[in-house]
Parts: sequence; structure tokens; C-alpha cells
Amino acid sequence: MSVEKLPFGKIDDCIDVELWMLKNSCGASAGILTYGGTLHSLSMPDKLGHFKDVLIGFDSLKGHLEHSAYQGQLVGRYANRLAKGEFFINGNKYSVTKNEKDTTCLHGGGEFSHAVWSAEPSGESSLILKYTSPAGSNGFPGKLNAEVVYTLTDENELVIDFRAKADEDTVINLTNHAYFNLGGFDAGNVLGHILQINADCFTPTDLYSIPTGELRPVEGTPFDFTQPKPIGLEINAAYDQLTNCKGYDHNFCLNERTPDISAAVVWEPVSGRVMEVFTDLPGVQLYTGNFLNNVPGKGGTVMNQYTGFCLETQYYPDTPNQPSFPQCTFKAGEEFRSKTSFKFSTYTS
Ligand code: GLA
Repeated sequence: MSVEKLPFGKIDDCIDVELWMLKNSCGASAGILTYGGTLHSLSMPDKLGHFKDVLIGFDSLKGHLEHSAYQGQLVGRYANRLAKGEFFINGNKYSVTKNEKDTTCLHGGGEFSHAVWSAEPSGESSLILKYTSPAGSNGFPGKLNAEVVYTLTDENELVIDFRAKADEDTVINLTNHAYFNLGGFDAGNVLGHILQINADCFTPTDLYSIPTGELRPVEGTPFDFTQPKPIGLEINAAYDQLTNCKGYDHNFCLNERTPDISAAVVWEPVSGRVMEVFTDLPGVQLYTGNFLNNVPGKGGTVMNQYTGFCLETQYYPDTPNQPSFPQCTFKAGEEFRSKTSFKFSTYTS
């Protein structure tokens, strides 16, 4: 196992960005950038033992800076959407950055994703990233200290530990926005990946992708991934929740909130790679890269609709405005703590 630091260019010719490589003793590796705390690469073996980067994204810092749709980035202070860019805490109204259609706060206004985090290794398999979000940043209350630890185990599991604490009562929802293609970054689309999600319900959304408040049973809908099925099997169905956002871009309500049972399992039959997702959060956003359009990516590839998929573990979108959802308001000094992991193996049918 090893942790190595490499230079990865500069922002505005003056802010150094580092690439940290975690390598395990099986030959797998994870590359993490201090810019956005970005999971930049993740090299995992296929059924023949050949390693390939299973993340779509960019080769260079320029790509991340100019074309990012959150590829691999950390997201906060509030992952996913806040309707009308507002919410209330203790009767006080907070107005936050509206960076989507001038109406909605998406991914906390992009703050965590575009910040340069400080990094220090911990042992031979972990990297600790830290970032302080100033008081009132993007309209969110209080100063917030965030810490994210990436660990690559010898079992080919990438573990992400999230911690955050603010000095005022605030909302916190943190995630990682990696886009996976288990065939490899250059393997084309992910429609043939076989996906299972441990969720009996999902949260349907309005035309602004804001949950309506309904928890809709997946049974009998294209959102039923309770049994394994290809991502592409029903993606073009005439079902308004799919046609409204050109594919899957929805929160699934996980049946179990425990890191011991997988929230989702994905299998790519050609390479044989399998990825299991574990989390202690209540939801996961399945996003099939619906809005990627001709984005220049790694190794001369082009990222388009369905070139990758995201499984963003999270509190449900717009939770602060939806009293019936599991809540994510934290008191001043109270710690947000959560763990998500992506575990890789292979399977041949
Ligand atoms: C999330 C959202 C999508 C899209 C991507 C980033 O997954 O749910 O609608 O905004 O982020 O492009």
C-alpha cells in the first residue's frame, strides 16, 4: 500500500493543485485531487485481472475547470437541490445561491466542488481532505468545517468518510459525484450495466427536479430496480418521470440505512466488474448523465448522455423544505458524520 503526492497544475497560475494516488497491494489505485476533493481516477481489475480506470472524467486540471459537471467532485454544503434556493431554520429564512435556472440551489452552489481542499495522508491507505466554508458562504448559516477521508482497502473498496460541523444551526448534505463506467472510461454507454437498488420507493419530481413530497412505490414502474435489470431496459419508456429529465435523475429511498447491506449493486457483463455501494444515508440519486453533451474527456473520449452513471448517496433532495423526509438540520456544534463505500469485485455468469 502507498500514498503518493504529484503536482497537477495551478489555478490562475498561482494556486497549486495536487494529485494524491492511493495504491493497494492488489494493484488497484485511486487518484484524488485537492481541487474539489475530486475522485479523479479509480483503477480496478476486470475478470481477467486487467486494470482500467472506471471513472469518466478529465485528464487535466483544465478539463475539470472548464467542463465539469461535478465529475468525481465532492458536493456540499447541500448536495442536490433546494427549491427556490431557500429554507427555514428556527423560523429564520435563508436564501442561498440559485445556480440552476436562476431558481434552484443545485449542489450548494458548487462551493465544495470548486474549492481547493488541504490534504494530508493518514497511514498508507488514507487521505484526509479539509475545507472550511466561511460563515454565510453561498447564504448558508454559520462557518462550517468539513473533513472527508478517502481510504482504499486491500479488498478493493474505496471508503469515503464525511464529517462536518458548523458554529450555527444549519443544513448539511454531503456526497461524492463520481460518474462510473465499469467497462472503463472509454467503454461507451452504461445502458447494458445491470443495476439493483435496495429501494421500494423513489421521490418523483416536478419540472424543476424538486421532489413533490410523494414517496412513490417503484413496483410496476421503470424505477423498479429491486431485481437486477439493465439500466437501459426502460430508460426510454413513456413515463413522465423519465421523459422530464431525459433519463434517470432521481432519489431512491433506501430500504435499509446500514453500511452492512448494499444500497446498490452494479454489474458490467463484458468486463465482469461488480460495484457494490454501501451507505448509512437514507437516499441515493441515480443519475445517468442525461445532460452530458459532447464533453471532451479522458484519453480523447467524448462524454455524452449515458456515458456514465452516478450513485450519489444523500439525504433526499430539498429535505429542509419537506417535513416528511428524514431531516438533515444539525445544531451548532453537532457533528454530521456519514460513510459511503464502493466495493469492487468480479463476476462471470
Ligand atoms: C445531479 C443532478 C443532475 C445534474 C448533475 C450535474 O446528479 O441531480 O440533475 O445536475 O448533478 O450535472
